[in-house]
Amino acid sequence: AELRGVHAALLGWYVTHQRAMPWRIPYRPDHDSEPAAVDLDQRGYEVWVSEIMLQQTQVATVREYYRRWMIEFPTVQALAAAPLDRVYQLWAGLGYYSRAKRLHEGATFLVKENSGSLPRDAATLMKAVPGVGRYTAGAVASIAFGRPEPLVDGNVVRVLTRLRAWGGDVTKASGVRWTWDTAAELLHQSAPGHWNQALMELGATVCTPTKPKCETCPLVEFCHAYTQLHDKPRYWELAG
Ligand code: ADE
Repeated sequence: AELRGVHAALLGWYVTHQRAMPWRIPYRPDHDSEPAAVDLDQRGYEVWVSEIMLQQTQVATVREYYRRWMIEFPTVQALAAAPLDRVYQLWAGLGYYSRAKRLHEGATFLVKENSGSLPRDAATLMKAVPGVGRYTAGAVASIAFGRPEPLVDGNVVRVLTRLRAWGGDVTKASGVRWTWDTAAELLHQSAPGHWNQALMELGATVCTPTKPKCETCPLVEFCHAYTQLHDKPRYWELAG
């Protein structure tokens, strides 16, 4: 019962608060907004590229890099065929060049071994594709392929630990297990990709590391950190 309330509150908020992103299909539950024919391999490639870029780089910065990347390497085949130094040129400024190298390796692998196709499920994505870890596998499977897979990044960790007022150490194996288990428990089964993006969006824009905007948070009535701690000074530092 509570889960339904959390789902309705966050997705309802997300309808009007989702930021437009070039790789994102908007969530519009009242319209038939999902494009009739989606090329899943292409969708997978777009989500994969964007999610790798978004690791350690802000959305605002990624936007322009992503646009230029897709003009230069519109498909996984184009990326696989490109020389690595050209890949690095397009990446210049994003930092952490190993991310670009692993994208290129992944593309080469997919074209050689899998007809350029991304596996549809998270376990295989993670096992088979070089450079794809648990987060990226969850993101591609849920956002591109609509699979009910959870995902956990820094934003999601913060939202979940506050929502449940969980005070454990998220850098320990037990904490990692707790966050993934909780993300799986809360997952919206029929809109997993929008749900996962809504959690990240909330963490990025409302449930921020310092001075979270609890007054406008759609989950405030479900939030144990808020209920327990909001009357304490700097309460956002006390939980999670
Ligand atoms: N951060 C990383 N990936 C994201 C996504 N798909 N939506 C919002 N924030 C993100």
